[in-house]
Amino acid sequence: MADRKVYIDYNATTPLDPEVKAAMIEDFDIFGNASSMHGSGRLAHDRVEEARAAVARLLGASPAEIIFTSGGSESNNTVFQTMRSLASAPGSSRTEIITTAVEHPCVLNSASYLESLGFTVHFLPVDEYGKIKMDDLQGLAGEKTLLVSVMMANNEIGTIQDIAGIAAIAKKAGAYTHTDAVQAVGKIPVDVRALGVDYLTMSAHKIYGPKGIGALFVRGKAPLFPLIHGGHQEDGLRAGTYNNIGILGFGKAAELARGRVEAYGSRLSALRTRLRDGLLGAIPNIKINGHPRDVLPNTLNVSFPGAEGESILLSMDIMGIEASTGSACASGSLEPSHVLMATGVGPELAHGSIRFSMGWGTSEEDVDYVVKTVPPIIARLRAMSTLV
Ligand SMILES: Cc1ncc(COP(=O)(O)O)c(C=O)c1O
Repeated sequence: MADRKVYIDYNATTPLDPEVKAAMIEDFDIFGNASSMHGSGRLAHDRVEEARAAVARLLGASPAEIIFTSGGSESNNTVFQTMRSLASAPGSSRTEIITTAVEHPCVLNSASYLESLGFTVHFLPVDEYGKIKMDDLQGLAGEKTLLVSVMMANNEIGTIQDIAGIAAIAKKAGAYTHTDAVQAVGKIPVDVRALGVDYLTMSAHKIYGPKGIGALFVRGKAPLFPLIHGGHQEDGLRAGTYNNIGILGFGKAAELARGRVEAYGSRLSALRTRLRDGLLGAIPNIKINGHPRDVLPNTLNVSFPGAEGESILLSMDIMGIEASTGSACASGSLEPSHVLMATGVGPELAHGSIRFSMGWGTSEEDVDYVVKTVPPIIARLRAMSTLV
């Protein structure tokens, strides 16, 4: 057993912030159904609306534009299912969707599903740093385009896309713009008006809030069709009794994130530089993936040629370091990361890559422990791989 534990997988999920946890515990007995007319219902309803306002403030939106969902996956699915409904409306002529090759599986698979129903879906390629080329988008966006969906920040390599520029191109073509901002919110400033998007997805458990709760921003006049039909909750757009405690925790997490996004940037980018320089200085022949400048301050994706990702992970885990080979959703899969493959990293190198993602709980000592512990692991694995 290692005497130190370093959780460095904050893009997979974050622990509850102690203030979020305290707020949830304090309100744990607010059990009323937020749709009920009586006092218990009204109390729950008021708390839900306070949380909605906090989430809206974090995004620069108005509360009426926020719909609570069960998380990022549901928010993304709702947008794609909405496109399906729009395309099947009489007189509709737009049947094309533009997205990218590096999206999270919940977008990729939603897009592929629409493709199987007859939509034309373009999966834009990315450059070696994970960015789409605006000329590619410009060339494809046209009168048939219904939706342009591009993630704001990539979960594996941290590359940040120019969403405002993308939305401008989509708007000119008369298409809707959606961005999966699950990994961006709380880490970099996100303002829906400045971005000019119609839909934006976020998730509480990536910003030190609880799991199983998220939101979809839907710009005032943008259409939305429910994924879950039932009662009249969320103006009939998302049925199901309100998850009071989850929503309250989300609201608290949003309030905290809003107040400290600047501090997050400076603190985490210093830690990222320390980790990157430490690893580059201690291990020969490694490759840093992702954009050199437009990258999340907390995310460092590194390829270690000659060592295999799963073996590195297991060896690190024995030493108390918890990282990942890519997205949590893809772990357990033997396929090389689709994100790294899209950036042109070959399958061998993609298999030997680790995502380090830091957060508020990461200290300089944690980073130094990683920098001290990983080099002998890589040296040992490389020596073993040259023996075979
Ligand atoms: C970019 C991105 N989109 C969507 C999701 C899914 O969010 P949730 O876990 O809330 O369904 C994730 C989670 O890893 C993600 O990183």
